[in-house]
Parts: sequence; structure tokens; C-alpha cells
Amino acid sequence: MQIQVGIITISDRASRGEYDDLGGPALQKAAQGYGWKVLTETLVPDEKREIQRAIREQIGKGCELILTTGGTGVALRDVTPEAVREIAVRELPGFGEVMRSESMKITQNAILSRNLAVVVDKSLVICLPGKPSGAVECLGFVVGAIPHCIEVLQEVPTSC
Ligand code: MTE
Repeated sequence: MQIQVGIITISDRASRGEYDDLGGPALQKAAQGYGWKVLTETLVPDEKREIQRAIREQIGKGCELILTTGGTGVALRDVTPEAVREIAVRELPGFGEVMRSESMKITQNAILSRNLAVVVDKSLVICLPGKPSGAVECLGFVVGAIPHCIEVLQEVPTSC
């Protein structure tokens, strides 16, 4: 079955129009490359409530997989991990572990990302770094586990 995807760009500056959202389009291209269907894209500031509302809206639109980009860093305005943990039923720590360890091969700054994956309702939410190339790289490191994870969460009969 084709995975239904929502994309959320989390950026004060992009949402104020101070610079273009390049992360959203980069993730859309990557998602289509994996054969997924991108249902919706949203741009929000680094505000917990707006991040949480955007996730719930995309789940309401049928998104089984939500990819966020931005707000995973060390800056005081980076609140994505706190925002998603507050509404998550559980965290899937392996996603963050692998994204950081694989990214260390690319940049020493990899451990500055608190990127993670959580389950909200029955959807998988993966929070990626804000840099477009970083977001696409990190998605690539964990993409292998996404189809089975979605099958289990959506209660599709699975082999394992
Ligand atoms: N991971 C990958 N694969 N590639 C990157 O370019 N950027 C790092 C890190 N992880 C990066 C990466 C940097 S510089 C930061 S500050 C953190 O992601 C957090 O980025 P964010 O605050 O934009 O989410």
C-alpha cells in the first residue's frame, strides 16, 4: 500500500517569509522518490502549540507518516522534540540513535540534533534536522524501517 505522507517545515524565519522553505520541497522530492504519496505540506514557526496542531491536522487528513524538518537543535527556540514528545504515545529511540550515528560520518555537528521519531495516535512522526540536505540524509538512514513500522501502526496484517 502507498504510504500517505505529511510534511511540516518548522522555522520562525521561513514562516515570517524571511527566507524560502527549502526543506519542505526537498523532503517532498525524497518522499516521491521512495514511492510515497505526499498529501499535505505545512509551514509553522518554532512554537510548540503550532507544531502540535499541524501534526494533528495532518493525521486528520490521513497522513500515516509525518516528516518534520527544523527545530531539533540546541538553540533556545528549537522546541520540536519537546513539542512532539508531549503528544506522543511512545518514542522510537532507534531512529534518533541511527540518524545521529550515521550523520557523524558526515558532520561532527550531528550530535547537536535532537532528532527523533515518535508515534502520535497511529502515525509515525519523524523529526529531521532543518538543513534540507541534513533532513534528506537522515530520512535516508532510517527509511528501511518505515514501511513495516507503518504496517504495524496501521494494523495491516504483517509477516513478522
Ligand atoms: N545531520 C545531517 N545528516 N546533516 C547535517 O547537515 N546538521 C547538524 C545536525 N545534524 C546536520 C545534521 C547541525 S549543524 C545542527 S545545528 C543540528 O542538526 C540541528 O539542526 P536543526 O536545529 O536545524 O534541526
